[in-house]
Amino acid sequence: MTDYKDIEELNRTAIEILRRNSREERYTVPAQKLYPFQWNWDSCFVAEGLATSSEDRAWTEIETLFRSQWESGKVPHIVFHKDAPSYFPGPDRWRCANTPPTSGITQPPVAATKVRAIYETAKDNDRADKALAYLIPRILKWHHWFHNERDPNGSGLIAAYHPWETGRDNSPEWDEPLKSVPLETLKPYTRRDTDLVPAAQRPVKEEYDRFVALLDLFVANNYIQKRLYDITPFKVADIGLNSILLRANRDLLWLVETTGHQGHHAEQIKDWIEAQEQALGQFWNDETECFHSLDLISGAPIPDITAAAFLPFYGGDLPEQFHEPLLKRFAAWAGKVEFMVPGFDPFNPKFHAERYWRGPVWPIMNYMIGNGLHDHGYGDQALRIGTDTARLIAAHGFMEYFNAYTAEGLGGHDFSWTASSWLCHANRYYAATL
Ligand code: GLC
Repeated sequence: MTDYKDIEELNRTAIEILRRNSREERYTVPAQKLYPFQWNWDSCFVAEGLATSSEDRAWTEIETLFRSQWESGKVPHIVFHKDAPSYFPGPDRWRCANTPPTSGITQPPVAATKVRAIYETAKDNDRADKALAYLIPRILKWHHWFHNERDPNGSGLIAAYHPWETGRDNSPEWDEPLKSVPLETLKPYTRRDTDLVPAAQRPVKEEYDRFVALLDLFVANNYIQKRLYDITPFKVADIGLNSILLRANRDLLWLVETTGHQGHHAEQIKDWIEAQEQALGQFWNDETECFHSLDLISGAPIPDITAAAFLPFYGGDLPEQFHEPLLKRFAAWAGKVEFMVPGFDPFNPKFHAERYWRGPVWPIMNYMIGNGLHDHGYGDQALRIGTDTARLIAAHGFMEYFNAYTAEGLGGHDFSWTASSWLCHANRYYAATL
């Protein structure tokens, strides 16, 4: 009985965090001070958690995000619903002519997958139908934007122009490609993130300079995507973003075929899936027997291996030949760290236990990787991920990320997508940790 009460308490706390981080009943901030606006993929993860207590509020969350979709189809990575001087770079640096203001880049497209998940468990059919009628055409337009603007040659490799577009902002994968970003035109700026989180857990100055210089370049080129495809000094095909889009395309196909909304787009979506499936082998390296992100400017695979190498399972229908080597790597990592899945290869000397995206465990990554493994029949690995996530959260709270050796909670507190991951994934494994 005590154990039962514990899980109930954790569930309640998670719901309470989402309630406290909710703004105007329309959107949710990832964390109170550190991230005071609406973030794209955070919001979609959060919507699934919200659906456990209010379907209407869950649909509203994603609808609010899509109200800020650009004419081109891009869905921005941040919507600045309100002024918040505690955050840099804010609207005046991005200089996008939208109301409310937004950033000018995007983030991994989890919307279709979360819309499907919420729809599949929805009880209020009228509300769900209203949401689908609004969202499906807009999600289609966003995926179209990815395939047209970020892969103008139809290669099946979708480009990210900024590390922040991969969602794994500070991954060591981006260190080399970032070195080509010139700093001459960088205008002065003041960071705000290190006022709130210890500097050792955040990106170093040289990285931040390049993050901002890239942004300035996009502004100078009026965000014209096809022009940027040719001139951006940073252009990568991230194995994470590409797997997430592949999965989202599969879920979008399911939605249009099942719900009757936009069914005439099914063939188009199948073409996107086929192009992506054919391109998948390009991310594979026979020597390391692993998936790598690609530097689309040099044409070379990026040597560093991250937790995103396991995301092709989440992408769905992963061809058999990739399974065994990935499972071998999984076992090696699982034998090395205490808590799976470290964000970065724990055998790599660049592993950093505390700096974000350079080692710590992220509950949302665990959610995706765990589900992908489970769907391919790898229940033991999914169990290890689920129980590790449950242990981390139960012991250290709803933190942004965790030390893979000590379990220490790091980054922001009372984090929305951690709360949501608890409600939709980790709490199912809680009993197995006792
Ligand atoms: C950090 C993460 C990014 C996330 C954002 C808000 O920038 O790297 O993926 O969307 O925080 O939580």
